[in-house]
Amino acid sequence: MRTILITGASGGLAQEMVKLLPNDQLILLGRNKEKLAQLYGNHPNVEWIEIDITDDSALEALVADLYLRYGKIDVLINNAGYGIFEEFDKISAQDIHQMFEVNTFALMNLSRRLGARMKERGKGHIINIVSMAGLIATSKSSLYSATKFAAIGYSNALRLELTPDSVYVTTVNPGPIRTAFFDQADPDGSYLKSVDRFLLEPDTVAKKIVKTIGKNKRELNLPLSLNLAHKFYSLFPKLADKLAREIFNYK
Ligand SMILES: NC(=O)c1ccc[n+]([C@@H]2O[C@H](COP(=O)([O-])OP(=O)(O)OC[C@H]3O[C@@H](n4cnc5c(N)ncnc54)[C@H](OP(=O)(O)O)[C@@H]3O)[C@@H](O)[C@H]2O)c1
Repeated sequence: MRTILITGASGGLAQEMVKLLPNDQLILLGRNKEKLAQLYGNHPNVEWIEIDITDDSALEALVADLYLRYGKIDVLINNAGYGIFEEFDKISAQDIHQMFEVNTFALMNLSRRLGARMKERGKGHIINIVSMAGLIATSKSSLYSATKFAAIGYSNALRLELTPDSVYVTTVNPGPIRTAFFDQADPDGSYLKSVDRFLLEPDTVAKKIVKTIGKNKRELNLPLSLNLAHKFYSLFPKLADKLAREIFNYK
């Protein structure tokens, strides 16, 4: 049986991934035990843990305990994350600090701690749920994009270091997904309304992620239209900036 650890476990995407993993031992991390119990109480082979993933000493103790009890973790899915879509000058120093703590530093600390164990074992898979915003920056996503660009940079280097030890690193970069993410990122719903026709359903994204488990896949960029936009952005950044400013300015 595979042992799979997922962060941000009560989120919309995580809920769909869990549904697709009935035969695995799941370790689900979240901020609220009651919420996790309510969501996953009836699920077989689930352990849920309330933890502040921004506290690295708590992560250290957790990893030591999990390895004592399970002996191995096959897959880490760094899924916890949030966004605030705001103009750069409306974002506080505290927002900057906190979002990096969750979206980037926690992902790095868990990847670092579990990556080392996987490397020792010569087997494992780290799946980092990042975002299209980590490949293409748009207005009002300066902070969110910065946290996600950093997560991709980290993951790309990690992949190079871990490949010789048969540990895979996959980045997942979805466009907008219909989840509670937007309750915080876009409280008045205006962005969500303007991208409605591009919205991905969480079950579709979850299916694609679950399919990559155990496969040496570099990145999963979706939907196809945004993957193409990302290629265009890399090849023609000046023109892409112009289009992003004048036509595709949805936030
Ligand atoms: N929805 C989108 O449009 C979209 C697009 C691209 C990428 N993503 C990424 O996909 C991942 C999953 O998001 P989702 O769409 O499933 O959104 P979601 O339903 O809001 O779930 C995200 C989960 O992350 C955890 N989280 C959020 N803020 C946190 C904080 N301050 N401290 C610690 N944990 C926090 C929470 O888990 P707990 O409540 O269990 O602690 C939350 O349920 C995120 O990394 C997000 O950036 C989302």
